[in-house]
Amino acid sequence: MNVLLTGGAGYIGSHAVRHLLAEGHRVVIVDDLRHGHLSSLNAARSASPERAVWINAGVEDYAAMLAALVDYEVDAVMHFAAFIEVGESVADPLRYYANNVGGSLVLLKACIDAGVYRLVFSSTAAVYGAPTEVPITEDAPLSPINPYGRSKWMVELALEDARRAHGLGYAILRYFNVAGASSDGVIGELHDPETHLIPRALAAAAAGSSVSIFGDDYPTQDGTCVRDFVHVEDLVAAHSLAMHAIVPGMGNAYNLGSERGFSVREVIDACEAACGHAILRNPEPRRPGDPPALVADSSRIREALGWMPRNPDLATIVAHAWTWEKKRQSQSL
Ligand code: UFG
Repeated sequence: MNVLLTGGAGYIGSHAVRHLLAEGHRVVIVDDLRHGHLSSLNAARSASPERAVWINAGVEDYAAMLAALVDYEVDAVMHFAAFIEVGESVADPLRYYANNVGGSLVLLKACIDAGVYRLVFSSTAAVYGAPTEVPITEDAPLSPINPYGRSKWMVELALEDARRAHGLGYAILRYFNVAGASSDGVIGELHDPETHLIPRALAAAAAGSSVSIFGDDYPTQDGTCVRDFVHVEDLVAAHSLAMHAIVPGMGNAYNLGSERGFSVREVIDACEAACGHAILRNPEPRRPGDPPALVADSSRIREALGWMPRNPDLATIVAHAWTWEKKRQSQSL
């Protein structure tokens, strides 16, 4: 298939590029490198550069999106490009709505106008807000508690309306906490600034500095937030399964998690085990917008599409992230 990926130079997008190329697809990567990295893009397409085109544009550029969809005879779109930080979305909500919602609407219109009716959308567990019950199924109430989650929910609603009006087919993938790096160490997480727990804990380990613990008074087993970590390679494998299953005019939503919850303290313990020494911990107040516990029930995608995570263990996820962290530091990436 010819697959267009927005945000293909980002953390998850670059892993998806690599996965799709390995499956034999042609990819059209749309990324203006505002947050993506040329090094990730080049590493991701290095095995099959002749099947990977890069378009230096943002998704809000309707003319560029339409031309890319038509010129490269795109069969399906994977829409990764978005702002992703919960705390930043609380501080600067309008920027999040403009980028995440506004950009997605432009892309959607280009898809409809180009006759591309298969779209995989990167959504988030943040659409569930602070659920009272875990694990969370796709039928749990959608009630996001921060602008990031609301921006993703708004796009979910627009997808459904576009399905009804125009016959769009879509798969909404609600990510829990994506982590790890490619198992061969070729690509990994490169956020600037890095806000995510695992890379921050591992960077602290490498630097001999401390990692913050944002809140230790949550109603959880040890007072710190609980999250469900899914390996980035398992996550992108799910995208391919979902893409192939899309039928124009039909829409589905799937949770992507490993179905196990770990507290922030337990995650730092796992990081210590991976790197072989203690990591200093610095208690800090709660971070705005953080729900206490998010753990997936991913049975829908396991049963409907046969998704089977290869690396569900936190120890493996953290080990791959640590290998990547050492490479990132040694190559100043
Ligand atoms: N945390 C710390 N110290 C840090 C960084 C994070 O204690 O230095 C805590 C956070 O407060 C939170 C947990 O670790 O309780 C996980 O935080 P992350 O920033 O790693 O991830 P989030 O859960 O905030 O967000 C991630 C994605 C979102 C997605 C969400 C869904 O970034 O896009 O998972 O669960 F919406």
